[in-house]
Amino acid sequence: MGKKAYSFKHPGRAVDTGFLSSLTFLPISNHPYMENKIMKIIGINASPRGDKSQTKKLVMAVLEGARKSGADITFVDLCSLEIKYCTACGTCYAKGECIHDDDFAALLEKMLNADGVVFGSPNYINSVTAQLKTMLDRMADSIHCQQFAGKYGCSVSTAGGSMADEVADYMNSALLHLGATTVGKVGVLVGADPNAIVPAEKQAKELGRKLADAIKTKWNDPDQTKIHLERKEYFKRIISFNKDLWKHEYDYWKGLGELK
Ligand SMILES: Cc1cc2nc3c(=O)[nH]c(=O)nc-3n(C[C@H](O)[C@H](O)[C@H](O)COP(=O)(O)O)c2cc1C
Repeated sequence: MGKKAYSFKHPGRAVDTGFLSSLTFLPISNHPYMENKIMKIIGINASPRGDKSQTKKLVMAVLEGARKSGADITFVDLCSLEIKYCTACGTCYAKGECIHDDDFAALLEKMLNADGVVFGSPNYINSVTAQLKTMLDRMADSIHCQQFAGKYGCSVSTAGGSMADEVADYMNSALLHLGATTVGKVGVLVGADPNAIVPAEKQAKELGRKLADAIKTKWNDPDQTKIHLERKEYFKRIISFNKDLWKHEYDYWKGLGELK
């Protein structure tokens, strides 16, 4: 696989994006979505089982549904990346950069460049996998800055016997917390009936179409918009309170004209 390096927003750090660029699929041509803008959707699977993953089938089905609606899709196998634990050092709040030099910065960049984000995880002990949670923990600065504002998202999950829907709900709550608007979920139990994945893939394809439509029409959900507005005010308040410590976040909101 040919790898290329490019410079991330923080000076002096080159980030290897080979693992991402090699997995980008081409969009279908001549789609009317915003004449000069290609709709980009990234799907992230957090199962460690690679191609054997049932959850991957759902993530791919969402991406396929979105591709048929004109999206440029990218699949990421999260467990093939190196993403270290958050140490709660606060450097991202203060400087907008992380102390770790690993694959997270390139992955975040890819998410920030997308119009839509799909999270997929199997149920591991009634929650997401440790790899997905590790990625989310590295996104606290993105949450404070509501960096997914204007994006859309959805989540998919598989489980042996229970709580696939709840795990998908949790991932959607993380997307909402980041500022994105969520369009739905698919959760399926495959332990006793492996064939249950087949109708679930159909639902996931439909979810992908819905995600693409939401992006195209800039769909507004008043309930989620209300939550976004409340969260924005909350984060601006705590960032103002900590403005000497969280300089990057204060400057970020100031740059948007949201803080004086
Ligand atoms: C460590 C571990 C924990 C799991 N915990 C649960 C659980 O709490 N409830 C459940 O119904 N299935 C559980 N499962 C089963 C997986 O959720 C299920 O096999 C899933 O479809 C695997 O997805 P994948 O094929 O994408 O890896 C667990 C599996 C593993 C390996």
